[in-house]
Amino acid sequence: MGKAQIPAIPSSEITPEHVYVNRRQFMRGVGLATGALALSACGAAIAPPPPTATPAVAAESAADATAADPNAPAPSVPASLLPAATSEPRASRDTDELGDALTAHEAVTTYNNFYEFGLDKGDPAFLGAYLKPAPWTVEVGGLVNRPGTYGIEDLLRKFPPEERIYRLRCVEAWSMVIPWLGFPLRKLLEAAEPQGSAKYVRFETLLDPLQFPLQRSEWFEWPYVEGLRLDEAMNDLTLMSVGLYGKQLLPQNGAPLRLVVPWKYGFKSIKSIVKIDLVDYEPASFWMIAASDEYGFYANVNPEVNHPRWSQATERRIGETGRRPTLMFNGYAEQVADLYAGMDLRKHF
Ligand code: MTE
Repeated sequence: MGKAQIPAIPSSEITPEHVYVNRRQFMRGVGLATGALALSACGAAIAPPPPTATPAVAAESAADATAADPNAPAPSVPASLLPAATSEPRASRDTDELGDALTAHEAVTTYNNFYEFGLDKGDPAFLGAYLKPAPWTVEVGGLVNRPGTYGIEDLLRKFPPEERIYRLRCVEAWSMVIPWLGFPLRKLLEAAEPQGSAKYVRFETLLDPLQFPLQRSEWFEWPYVEGLRLDEAMNDLTLMSVGLYGKQLLPQNGAPLRLVVPWKYGFKSIKSIVKIDLVDYEPASFWMIAASDEYGFYANVNPEVNHPRWSQATERRIGETGRRPTLMFNGYAEQVADLYAGMDLRKHF
C-alpha cells in the first residue's frame, strides 16, 4: 500500500554477485520477483524490497519451519480450547447477518495480505511455514493498573472464543465474509484495568526476520504497528481472533492472535500480535508511516471517501463476479456510527 517513491536498486548493485545469483534462484523458488517490478499487494506500488536473506539463512529458517504444507494446522492453540474444532474447516452458519455467503475457506487462507512474508497474495500461505506460532506470548502494558504477559492458552481459558461472522473489506476494494473465532478485545483490556489517562491502544506484530523474511528489507519500518482509539477498542465488535472456520489461525491469517475490526479497512486488523499498550497519544501506524497522505489513523470503510489509488464506491467480493456497492462502515453503522458523531470523516480518513 506504499507509494511509488522508492528507487529500484538492482540487487546486483548492492550484493556480491554469487549471493545475488543464488538469491535470485531462491526468490524465484518462493514466488517473489527481484528487480524493479511495480507490485500491488494491499496497494503497494513500489519496487519490491530485495530481502537480504542469503539462501543459507533461508534454508536454515525453512528447516526450522513448523509446517511444510501451508494448509497444515499450525501448532498454536490446543484444539480442545477451540469450540467446534474439527478436522474439517466448519462454521455454524453459511451466511452473515445480511444473508451474504461465507467466502470459501480456500480463498480465505490463500489470498492474503501479510507483508512480512511477501508482497504477493500467495506469499503468506507459502512462506507462512517460517512462522512458529507456539509457544507465543502477548504483553499487555502501558497505562494500565494490571500489566501482564499472557500465553495464548491463558487467554483462551480466561476468554473462551466464540464465532463471529464478519465482512472483511480491504482498502484495495475487495472483500470477504469470514467466520472468525475469538473474544472481544474489551475483555482483555478490562482485565488490564486502563488508567484514566489511557486514550488509545497500540498493537505490535512480532519482529523476527528469521520468521518473517521481508522484515530483512529496509523499505518499510518494522514491526507492523496499528492503533485504535480506546472507545473503538472497547466496542463489542472489536475481536481478538485465534481462529477461523472452527480451526486455529494459520500463519497466513495472523497466527496465533490477530485483531479484527470489521468496520475498518483490513489493514487495521493487525496480525501475529505480541504487544498491546495503552497509551495517551494517537499511535502512528505502519501505513501512516509508509505513506501519510494516503493512509489516516481511522480507516473507516466509507464509500464516499476515496483512496488516492482506489475508488471506494464499490467492491469485489472474492468468489463473486461483478461488483457490489460499498456499505458505510462496512455495514456496521448501527453499532459504530455513534463513535464518530460530529467528526468530519473526510478529514479523519
Ligand atoms: N498485519 C501485519 N502484521 N502485516 C500485514 O501486512 N496486512 C493487513 C492486515 N494485517 C497485514 C496485517 C491487510 S492490508 C489486510 S487486508 C488484512 O491483514 C488481510 O487479512 P487476511 O489475509 O487474513 O485476509
